[in-house]
Amino acid sequence: MSGPDPRAYRRTIGLFATGVTVVAASDGAAVVGMTANAVCSVSLAPLLLLVCVGRTARLAAHLAPGTPFSVNVLRTDQEVLARYFAGGWRHLPRPEFRFEPWGAGHRLVGALASIRCTIDRCLDGGDHWIVLGRVTDLHDGGPPADPLLFFAGRYRALAPLAAEVPPEVVGPDGVSVYYEEWSAAPPAAPVEPGE
Ligand SMILES: Cc1cc2nc3c(=O)[nH]c(=O)nc-3n(C[C@H](O)[C@H](O)[C@H](O)COP(=O)(O)O)c2cc1C
Repeated sequence: MSGPDPRAYRRTIGLFATGVTVVAASDGAAVVGMTANAVCSVSLAPLLLLVCVGRTARLAAHLAPGTPFSVNVLRTDQEVLARYFAGGWRHLPRPEFRFEPWGAGHRLVGALASIRCTIDRCLDGGDHWIVLGRVTDLHDGGPPADPLLFFAGRYRALAPLAAEVPPEVVGPDGVSVYYEEWSAAPPAAPVEPGE
């Protein structure tokens, strides 16, 4: 196989800072959770997100189309849960956590936010499955809190920027990501890749 060494790739892509989630799939009353940061919003119409799940992870056995799952965004003070659901927990007892029924699935109580989905499709993603989920409900975890982050192989917390771009340059409303936030005009027709 040519191209960069997989470990070098892992180090480099690890410089792309992410949040940390626990993805929980429900199999009847049983819940299988896995720490995941390969989570990405895909589409607003319809609402779709994706999660990449290793083919050998226990969660992979629960990925049939139609299966309910939740993406639970962890708070800074939930690093122990990230470690527990990544299989790196060597101590007894296990950390405190609870899954609560949520529609046909479950959510992790105390998460910063939870997104409920139903599996639409699982696509071939090499040694992972690309799990495309239809978003069916949202849960805001309550009092504002900071997210747990993952960067360069370590858990991290947010820190303020040393020098923010002044509001007179960018306007007062923060960052706009989606096109319709820039104007009231309907979004332009999608551009085909490569155009
Ligand atoms: C910060 C972090 C992020 C992770 N993200 C993913 C991910 O997006 N997809 C995945 O399949 N595994 C991911 N993993 C690895 C799984 O959490 C771990 O390998 C898995 O729980 C082990 O599989 P098991 O549940 O079968 O023991 C991540 C691990 C960590 C520590």
